[in-house]
This record gives sequence, C-alpha cells and structure tokens, in this order.
Amino acid sequence: MTQQITDKFGRPIRDLRISVTDRCNFRCRYCMPKEIFGDDFEFMKRDQLLSFEELERIATIYAGMGVKKLRITGGEPLLRKDLHELIASLNAIEGIEDIGLTTNGLLLKKHGQKLYDAGLRRLNISLDALDDELFGQINDRGIGTSRILEQIKYAQSIGFEIKINMVVQKGLNDHEIVPMTRYFKDLDGITLRFIEFMDVGNDNGWNFEKVITKKEIMEMLEAEGEFDLEPLNPQYYGEVAKVYRHKDAESYIGFITSVSESFCSTCTRARLSSDGKFYGCLFAVDGFDIKTLMRQGIDDDELTDILTGVWNERDDRYSEIRTEITEESRNARKKINMSYIGG
Ligand code: GTP
Ligand code: 5AD
Ligand code: SF4
Ligand code: SF4
Repeated sequence: MTQQITDKFGRPIRDLRISVTDRCNFRCRYCMPKEIFGDDFEFMKRDQLLSFEELERIATIYAGMGVKKLRITGGEPLLRKDLHELIASLNAIEGIEDIGLTTNGLLLKKHGQKLYDAGLRRLNISLDALDDELFGQINDRGIGTSRILEQIKYAQSIGFEIKINMVVQKGLNDHEIVPMTRYFKDLDGITLRFIEFMDVGNDNGWNFEKVITKKEIMEMLEAEGEFDLEPLNPQYYGEVAKVYRHKDAESYIGFITSVSESFCSTCTRARLSSDGKFYGCLFAVDGFDIKTLMRQGIDDDELTDILTGVWNERDDRYSEIRTEITEESRNARKKINMSYIGG
C-alpha cells in the first residue's frame, strides 16, 4: 500500500492495540473495582471473543493499511489460553515491525519463555508501588510486590526488554515515586514510566485533584538531589512517553502525560476490543463492530475498504478536550472501561 491512510486530522494509522480478554486476575481499584467486577459479573463468553484466526486476519488487514506496531493487552492478556500461538502468527505478518505486550506480570514465569520463543521481545509491566501492603490493596487481591519483582527479574533474564508502568494517584501512592525510581534505576535497561491517572471509563473515581503531573513528579525527584537525568528525543513519531536517561546508570524514566500534556495530535493508534470492535480512542463511547461483518462472510477487500473509511472518519481527541468540557458533560459521557479495551 503506497498511499497513506489518514483520519480527519491527517493522522496516519500506525499502531493496533489488541485486547485478547476482558478478564483479569487483579482487581485494581482504578480499573476493575470489586463492587462492579464481582463474582456475578458477566465476562465475555468464548464465542464472543475473536478467535486467533480472526485476530490474525484483522491484523493482516490493518498491516496493509499502514499498521506497523501491535500491542497485546487485556484485561490481563496472559489469561488467554495459548497466547504464544497468536504471537507467532502475528509475528509472521508482513509489515509488522514490533509487537509488545502489556501485563500485570503475575504469570510471566508460567508463560514468559513460550512467548519469547514465539518472537515476543517487549513487555510493559504494571507496578504501582514497592510497598507490599499498599500494592496488595491497590490490586485488591492482596498480591505483594515481591511476587511481581520476581517475575520481572525472570523476564529480564530470558531477554525481554521491559518497561514498568506506575499509575500515580495523589494521596495513594505518590510517596512511592522516589523509592520506585531508586529501585528501578539499578535494573539495567529498564524504563520506569509514571502514568498520570486518567478518567478512563466511569467507575474509577477520577477527578483532577487525584492527578499528579509530570511537572510535580520531576520537582519531587529534583528535590531529592540524587537523580541526574537528561531528556531523550522521541524514539518514533507519536511516542506516548517522554523519556529521560539516568546519566549515571543504564536505565530510564518516562512520563505518560495524557492529562497535563495531551498527545492526541500525533495519536496513530487504533484499538480492538476482545469482542471485535474498533475504537478510535481510549475514551471512546461507541465502537465499530468488525466481528459481525466477518462472521457474516465479508471478504478482505470489502473489509479493507470499510475499515479505511472508519479510519478516515476518525476525529477523536479526548485528552485535548478534557479540560474544555464541563465536569457535568464529562460525567455524562459513557466511556468504555479500561479492562475492556486494555489502555
Ligand atoms: P510502548 O510505547 O509501545 O512501549 O507502549 P505504550 O506506552 O503505548 O503502551 P502501554 O500499554 O504500556 O500503555 C501505557 C499507558 O499509556 C497506559 O496507561 C495507557 O492507557 C496509556 N496510553 C497508551 N496509548 C494511549 C493513548 O493513545 N491515549 C492515552 N490517553 N493514553 C494512552
Ligand atoms: N489511568 C492511567 N493508567 C491506567 N491504567 C489502568 N487504568 C488507568 C488509569 N485510570 C494502566 C495500567 C496499565 C496500562 C495498560 O494502563 O496500569 O499499565
Ligand atoms: Fe487488571 Fe491491569 Fe486493570 Fe489492574 S489495571 S485490574 S492488572 S487490567
Ligand atoms: Fe489518542 Fe484518544 Fe489518547 Fe488522544 S485521548 S491520544 S485520541 S487515544
């Protein structure tokens, strides 16, 4: 495909984030609070989920439209049976240059080697605190930090390139910013990324007061007087994180500033839910149902035309308008949940 496919703001399509399950073995309060995702919550049934063959077909079509980068998400993607088989088939698609996986890390010892052997090289692992008790409260399953740190070290020993994602919430885990920075500074090759708490979905109790911005975190780190950081240039067009290098170590920190410095103008990401809907934004309300079209027997050319049209119509830029709209209209917007679309 020579002609670039762009949306209403001229943004090309480059990345596809694929959610492979809506289930998770954690119940992080900001993502899947137990009150809502309790024992009687109805997760998707097997036949509602896209099969590996369907996922491969969609990814191939998007690769033909310009997608170069895939990210596997969930819920918790390691709960999807035989995930390594999917990785192997996605890896073989022409035009796909990079595949990453976002996980809470708990099952890496169990599945990491198979995933590596299937060609996966990059892992983004969520960890919001070093303190065992606090982390157990945040994931609401009482899972302590040491269990995740073991998995991280194991994944590193196999050869994975690793980023750590820490969602920072004021008054909850902001006192862990400095200890986390110290700890991960000593792990070679790792990037610790601070994520500004976002108003994804409608159930996570978000408000502006709970956000700690990049600026505040930088000031906190500077006040310690022990970190010597230099900014790096973006690694690729539209990189989500702003990255800094520890000058006296082999590691990095990064910031995902969706609230304080939005990055919608370079957002090249399409999202696919585990039940086969396209979403143009993490904060979208409605999706476009690809699965039904496929199960009705649409052919590849027709589907390519339709998905090209869907991208051409995309005009999402929620993070840019978040501050412009009133709190009332923000609350009235019925956004999809994070566990459904995988961040
Ligand atoms: P790489 O840069 O490829 O390593 O991955 P990533 O940072 O895009 O993926 P990851 O799943 O680790 O996401 C990290 C955080 O960035 C999560 O909180 C995501 O929700 C957030 N994020 C990723 N893409 C977007 C986006 O397009 N918009 C917003 N607002 N947040 C995003
Ligand atoms: N704000 C910011 N990041 C979030 N994540 C989950 N919910 C939120 C939120 N409300 C993060 C997870 C994971 C990534 C996919 O998104 O911790 O690292
Ligand atoms: Fe699971 Fe990740 Fe959501 Fe936590 S943030 S409940 S680990 S999907
Ligand atoms: Fe892209 Fe929506 Fe995030 Fe903006 S808010 S960067 S449009 S996903």
